[in-house]
Formats: sequence, C-alpha cells, structure tokens
Amino acid sequence: MVGPLKQVRKSKFFAHIEREQGDRPWGSFLDAGSGLHSLGWVSQLDTERWIAVTGAPQDAEKMQAATDGVRRPQDQILLGNWARADLLKGEVFDTVLADYLLGAVEGFAPYFQPYLFARLRPVTGKVLYITGAEPYVPENEPSTEAGRLVWQIGRFRDACLLLSGDLPYREYPSAWVLDQLVRSGFKPRNIKRFDTRYKKRFVRTQIDLSLEALKRVRDRNAAQALSQWGEALKQEALARVASDDGLAHGSDYVITAEPV
Ligand SMILES: C[S@@+](CC[C@H](N)C(=O)[O-])C[C@H]1O[C@@H](n2cnc3c(N)ncnc32)[C@H](O)[C@@H]1O
Repeated sequence: MVGPLKQVRKSKFFAHIEREQGDRPWGSFLDAGSGLHSLGWVSQLDTERWIAVTGAPQDAEKMQAATDGVRRPQDQILLGNWARADLLKGEVFDTVLADYLLGAVEGFAPYFQPYLFARLRPVTGKVLYITGAEPYVPENEPSTEAGRLVWQIGRFRDACLLLSGDLPYREYPSAWVLDQLVRSGFKPRNIKRFDTRYKKRFVRTQIDLSLEALKRVRDRNAAQALSQWGEALKQEALARVASDDGLAHGSDYVITAEPV
C-alpha cells in the first residue's frame, strides 16, 4: 500500500526550474516521464491541470494511490508509451517536464531516443524542461578514486541487469540533447549543470537492485560470484562515501527549451 503523496523535499533541479519559470503561470502541465518524485513536486504547483505519463503499470498504480488526496478532477495519471503516435494526440500543454525520461526510454522503447523530442514538440505549448545525467558508464576508467567507484558501480549494475533479462538505463550527453532539440523544432534557452556527489543512498540502491536482478540469473555459480563482488564493491564505496562525504563525479543538467 502506498500512503498519500509525501511532501517532497524540493530538489535543486526543481528549484532551478521554478526560477526559470519566474512569474509565468504554469498553466496546463505535462509530466512526460512521471514518478512519485516529480509528481510530488508538480502536484504542489499552481497548475490549471496536470497529466502524468508513465510507461510502467506498477508505477501508474502507485502514483494513483499516492495522489488520491491531491488529485483534482481535471488531473490524470496516464499509462502510455511515447513511441505510440496516438498518445495525447492533438493535446497541447503550456509546460512540459521530461524529468530523467530520456535515460529511461531504453527500457520502454529502445532506439526511440532520437525521436523523443520531435514527439514532445507538438504537445509543448510554451516551455519544455529536461533533466538528465551526463553518462558516466561509457567513459574510460576515471582517474579519481571516487570516479572509478561510480563508474564501477554503473558497469556492475548494467551487467547484472542485462544478465537478468532487463534493459539498463541509457543516459545521453547534454550536447546530444541540445542538438536533438534544435533538430526537433525547439530553441534551447538555458542549460545549467550541477556537479554530482553520490551519497550512501546511490551506492545502496544501485547495488541492491543489482543483487535483486542476480536472483533471476540462471547460472547460480556465476550469480553467486557476482553477488560477492557486489557486496565487496558496496562496502568499498560506502567507506569512501563516509571518508570523503560522498563520491564526487560527473554532473546532471537541466535544460530549458522553447518551441520555435
Ligand atoms: C526515471 S523514471 C522518472 C523519474 C520521475 N520523474 C520521478 O519522479 O522519479 C522515467 C519515467 O519515464 C517513463 N518512460 C520511459 N520511457 C517511456 C516511454 N517510451 N513512454 C512513456 N513513458 C516512458 C517511465 O515509465 C518512468 O515513469
């Protein structure tokens, strides 16, 4: 059971988006890749209405239950896939948020990423906000200890997810996003980068979801050996988080774009 939507601690990304929006009204709001975190923020804003899209039925159910107390008759949680041409066809929203949507597309519509922003263009009336992480998995082994640990955790997680039959996230660089936006009929107005300092929660969630995935790997000897590796990696990373107050590596970005 999921309780009422918690008053989320506003992330620095959402605080930045509020500053970007300034005095302009939010109007109708589309949370194009929704979840409890972004919806917790969106549902507190002074919007005319909101629609929250997710591709995962379990997430839709959780979001439905969590917003029972705050959802107005005009608000809606919608299960759908942006790869389908009929999703929200003909609808236009003043404000559109793509909060870590791009990186997650791989699991719902692989190869669709180059078309995502063109797909969001006709539903965007006034402004599109995109949040994302600069990829840290495909790079060469970083030279700092913190960087090496983040990179190792990312590669370990993705390997476990692939072996278990799932598809890991695939993040895209901000330069790629800016290029795609221009090709898709948007004018990027602002980009802000935030240095990332990964904390205990990152280490635990990434390794724990990897260990969970390993339960579905048929070769139990391989799974056992990988689990031991994961536990050791977790302890090493947690010790480094404690001594350095986190693992400083890479950055996240928020892009503001307007339809041309
Ligand atoms: C990383 S999660 C979202 C983070 C979210 N904003 C939060 O509050 O936690 C990505 C979301 O995008 C959705 N998504 C990914 N690809 C999609 C697609 N092709 N069509 C529709 N939704 C998609 C996922 O189902 C999920 O709801």
